[in-house]
Amino acid sequence: MNLKEKIASYGKWSLITGGSDGIGKNFSFELASHGQSLIIVGRDESKLKEVKAQIENQYKVQVTIYALDLSISKNISSLIEITKDLDIGLVVLAAGFGSLGDFSTLNIENELQMIDTNCRGIVHLTHSFANKMKIKKKGAIILFGSLVGFQGVPWSSTYSASKAFVQSFAEGIRAELKSKNIDVLSVAPGPVSSGFGERANMNMGKAQATKGIGRICLKALGNQTTIRPGFLSKFLGYSLIILPRSIRSFILKQIMSGMIKK
Ligand SMILES: NC(=O)c1ccc[n+]([C@@H]2O[C@H](COP(=O)([O-])OP(=O)(O)OC[C@H]3O[C@@H](n4cnc5c(N)ncnc54)[C@H](OP(=O)(O)O)[C@@H]3O)[C@@H](O)[C@H]2O)c1
Repeated sequence: MNLKEKIASYGKWSLITGGSDGIGKNFSFELASHGQSLIIVGRDESKLKEVKAQIENQYKVQVTIYALDLSISKNISSLIEITKDLDIGLVVLAAGFGSLGDFSTLNIENELQMIDTNCRGIVHLTHSFANKMKIKKKGAIILFGSLVGFQGVPWSSTYSASKAFVQSFAEGIRAELKSKNIDVLSVAPGPVSSGFGERANMNMGKAQATKGIGRICLKALGNQTTIRPGFLSKFLGYSLIILPRSIRSFILKQIMSGMIKK
């Protein structure tokens, strides 16, 4: 089965949260290039409209957009309700954000919203779509961990913990859903040049482009549990993972302190 056939085998529609920017946007274009109709969710309606126009201009697919803040539980319930009759076979839950700085001085509302978006929202959406996919006996769910999710990371404590949650969650449900013919993949990127750095107040320094990330991940879907997409994420990820957790945290503390925007 080639990539187009694999994607089509899940269903006609793909849902991409965070599909209006960065890595999620790359997934939106990649999936459209394989003929998928798309539901794209983000908070900023103008960004969503722009991506919808670009995709519909380039590919003969239908794109539906929803401007919803997924840190709010009732918006997740609304998204589940408004998409309930569509044949959504592939779900890419890319919406997420980080923060950088001394935890005790960071805005607590922002830290809590991060947990709601990066963890609570992911669990809620995954639960709903996994149940729909179980009935169809097929489907795929792509979640986003991170290079920082494999140990505690000073100056990014809440964010790295949220990504550790997603990594662990993805590993667990992958094994549970495998027998139901549902593929689960955790994507663990290193630094990627996107809107992420600005929102997190982070100087990204050396970072990989978003181009090609969607394709790499879609190829890995169904074949592995975790994908580190691209050279930089592999190089950084595999050089760190062989070290004890405490040393990894120490190294990342030095790196993160250099990334804080003054
Ligand atoms: N970039 C990196 O270096 C990096 C590294 C490792 C992992 N990741 C993970 O990869 C995923 C994608 O990140 P990215 O780099 O593509 O970031 P990005 O360029 O900032 O894009 C984030 C996307 O999520 C949407 N979004 C954010 N908060 C939302 C909310 N509360 N409700 C609905 N939509 C929301 C944004 O749209 P609006 O702003 O319009 O809401 C945007 O479409 C995230 O989970 C991130 O944690 C990123």
